[in-house]
Amino acid sequence: MKIKTVFRSLAFITAALFLTACGSGGQEDTSVKDIEDKGTLVVAMNPEFAPFEFKTLVDGKDRIVGADVEIAQAIGEELGVKVKFSSMSFNNVLASLQSGKADIAISGISATEERRKVYDFSETYYESVNVVIVRKADLDKYKDTDAFSGLSVATQKGSIQESVAQEQLDGANIVSLTQNGEMINELKNSQVDGVVLEKPIAEGYVAKNDDLAIADISLKSGDSDAYAVAMPKGSTALKEKVDKVIKNLKESGKIDQFVQEAYDLSVSEKEQ
Ligand code: ARG
Repeated sequence: MKIKTVFRSLAFITAALFLTACGSGGQEDTSVKDIEDKGTLVVAMNPEFAPFEFKTLVDGKDRIVGADVEIAQAIGEELGVKVKFSSMSFNNVLASLQSGKADIAISGISATEERRKVYDFSETYYESVNVVIVRKADLDKYKDTDAFSGLSVATQKGSIQESVAQEQLDGANIVSLTQNGEMINELKNSQVDGVVLEKPIAEGYVAKNDDLAIADISLKSGDSDAYAVAMPKGSTALKEKVDKVIKNLKESGKIDQFVQEAYDLSVSEKEQ
């Protein structure tokens, strides 16, 4: 081989290596830098999900509070930026990351395998269990998952409870609604016979509504039902920061404390 050819190949290899080093897919990870430059962390959530996120009056002003709000504030602190909450219906929460409307989403989001294909997720911070709420007067009717056969059961649009109900409540007719409050009203008015929600959320509604109860039926829940913070795909640097915050909050018992405090606050309030 001529010496010139050797040099040429070397130059080629160097250029190729350089291009690969500039990030996978040719894109640099600016997930943290972008937020720092803006000075604001925009958090997408559906604040109708006490004790994780819900609206309440604080000094006469409408505020969003809850365990997820505390987590978001801690992430904002870690990044040294302000936190802004962007409210939307749950079926738009994850999509807002793709359209760039929000930087992260914290909304009691279960980190399922399917969602993991499209978004990055932090470490999980809360294990969730699914339950069915029914009218207290009918509680005895529902002892088994097939007791709902031919009946209507409500779930929140875009939530994993849609498939939980579909797969586990044999023969039930699943009605997907945008708002959790609407599902509860439909149940109270006998438009539907059951509502599938995760345990702390269901317990909050039952505590505030004497005519409702949690059915004695156990639904299966998997590892992928646990909650995590969602980020756009490729947010490696951001995930590192978020994971650090989650890890600290979990180890210090803060998450459980946030959930308990928010639960107590939500049930102490009048229905709104
Ligand atoms: N954990 C469920 C899911 O990810 C429900 C979350 C609903 N969250 C809310 N803020 N409404 O599908």
